[in-house]
Order: sequence, then structure tokens, then C-alpha cells
Amino acid sequence: MNTSNITIETDNLLIRSITMDYKEHIYREFTTEIATYLYPKPPEKIEHTVRFIESSMKENQAGSNFQAVVLRKETEEFLGCAAIHNIHTTSPELGIWLKKASHGKGYGREAVTALKEWADKNLDYEHLLYPVTRENYPSRSIPESLGGKIVKEYEETNMSGNVLHILEYWIYPPVA
Ligand SMILES: CC(C)(COP(=O)(O)OP(=O)(O)OC[C@H]1O[C@@H](n2cnc3c(N)ncnc32)[C@H](O)[C@@H]1OP(=O)(O)O)[C@@H](O)C(=O)NCCC(=O)NCCS
Repeated sequence: MNTSNITIETDNLLIRSITMDYKEHIYREFTTEIATYLYPKPPEKIEHTVRFIESSMKENQAGSNFQAVVLRKETEEFLGCAAIHNIHTTSPELGIWLKKASHGKGYGREAVTALKEWADKNLDYEHLLYPVTRENYPSRSIPESLGGKIVKEYEETNMSGNVLHILEYWIYPPVA
């Protein structure tokens, strides 16, 4: 499935396939603080963001990824990025980060819930993965609100060289 032209609408948000239009926003907002608990490290120069968007757009077109930006519905203000990776497999992986100024307003949960609902309608999956660093409590509450269960735990060294203790939540499709 080509995911390069998708917009999901929620009460407050638009979740829209990524394009180069957002390179400055992503470069500016994906900071060291935001990346603390994440695998990727922040871009050192805008060319790194451009490369990330280029490869994401190719993967969206090839149907192996749905990499999106999260926007405020009313104003189309950039809020962050969200994704379902490996959508062609039985265990696609959810991911999200929002810019600091937009934390704590319920947008994270709203965006991930919408991605899960989109997956329920459009993908044939066994479970969605939601790997999260143990100490990242705001993020952990998102899969928990979707009925996710911790199925695996492991340590991983992220691209910034920090060892993260990862809890891997599995979130299941609705019972038919
Ligand atoms: C994780 C993240 C996406 C959450 O998005 P958000 O919009 O800030 O979170 P929400 O407002 O939807 O709140 C989600 C839950 O966290 C809780 N929460 C929010 N801020 C919190 C805080 N500082 N401490 C503890 N809990 C917090 C909320 O109460 C809510 O729980 P509830 O639904 O049980 O009440 C966002 O904080 C973020 O981008 N963080 C940096 C990147 C990151 O860690 N991404 C996740 C990778 S797995």
C-alpha cells in the first residue's frame, strides 16, 4: 500500500504523510531533550533531516512505512512526527514524538489512538509494537490506554550512545 498521500483526521489533529515541506520544523524541534528516550539522535545539520525525509518518502511510496507529521487541525501548525513502521509485516511498529511546546495536551494519545484505528481498518496485523524506555511514563501510558501489554524487555544502546531499558508493548487488533 502506497502511504505517501494519506491524511487522518481526528478531533484536534491531522496526521499527514511526510513531505519535504516540514524539514525546517523537524530539524528545529527534534532536539536532544526530545530524543532522550529515543533510538535516533537529533540531526546535527539540516542535511540529516533532509535524508531522513527522503528515505521516509521512499518507504511510504514502497508501502513499507507510514511516516507522517502531526499537525493541529485548525491551523495546520506542525506539532511533531508519528509513524507506523513495517506496515507490510504482521508486527508493525508505532512511533511518535511531539515538539516540547505541545506536550501534555493529550495530542500524543490522540495521534497514536488514530494510528491504531487506521491500522485496524487498513492493515492485516497480529500485534502493533510500541517499544518505550522504562522511565518514559507519559509515553508508556499511551499503549496502556490501548490495552497494550509488556511482552518483551531488553537493553538497547541508542544512536547517542546511551543504554535504554526498553519495554516492548504489544497492542492487539479488535476481536472480530
Ligand atoms: C511521549 C509523548 C509523545 C506523549 O505525548 P503528550 O501529548 O505529551 O502526552 P499526552 O498529553 O497525550 O498524555 C499521555 C499520558 O501521559 C501523561 N503525562 C503527560 N505528561 C506527563 C508527565 N510529565 N509525567 C507523567 N505523565 C505525564 C498524561 O496524563 C497522559 O496519561 P493519561 O492519559 O493516563 O492521563 C511526548 O511527551 C513526546 O513527544 N515525548 C518525547 C518523545 C518521546 O518520548 N516519544 C515516545 C517514544 S516511545
